[in-house]
Amino acid sequence: MPKIDWNDSFGVGNDEIDRQHKKWIGIFNDLHDAMLNDDLTDYRAMTTQSLQDMLDYAKVHFAFEEKYMANIGYPDLVAHRRLHKDFDTQIYQCYRDAEDGHTVLNTKIIKMVRNWLVQHIMIEDMKYKLFAQQRG
Ligand SMILES: [Fe+2]
Repeated sequence: MPKIDWNDSFGVGNDEIDRQHKKWIGIFNDLHDAMLNDDLTDYRAMTTQSLQDMLDYAKVHFAFEEKYMANIGYPDLVAHRRLHKDFDTQIYQCYRDAEDGHTVLNTKIIKMVRNWLVQHIMIEDMKYKLFAQQRG
């Protein structure tokens, strides 16, 4: 499962959001390393910490992005916010499972987070980029 490399095709037309997406992808890449490392001595602590970092940053980023969408008058804000909430719920569940000592299928989590991040930025976030461009 490869890491994510940010490139210009991820750009959503807002410098601050692009900066936040780069940081978020960096957190994903750290999670990737933490969860796929077989040599870790404290595997559980590392996994829960990485998931916690992901949850914390997503919260800050989602709030900023939702405010931006509201500011530009984006009509599908409610649906977009629901997607953010779903992500939060899914990651929180993974976090709880890891914390409770359940065997977490790390490759499965990594794949899920990776797909979500890439598809969310490339498909959902691009919709507000297009809206902002058309609105001029
Ligand atoms: Fe978003």
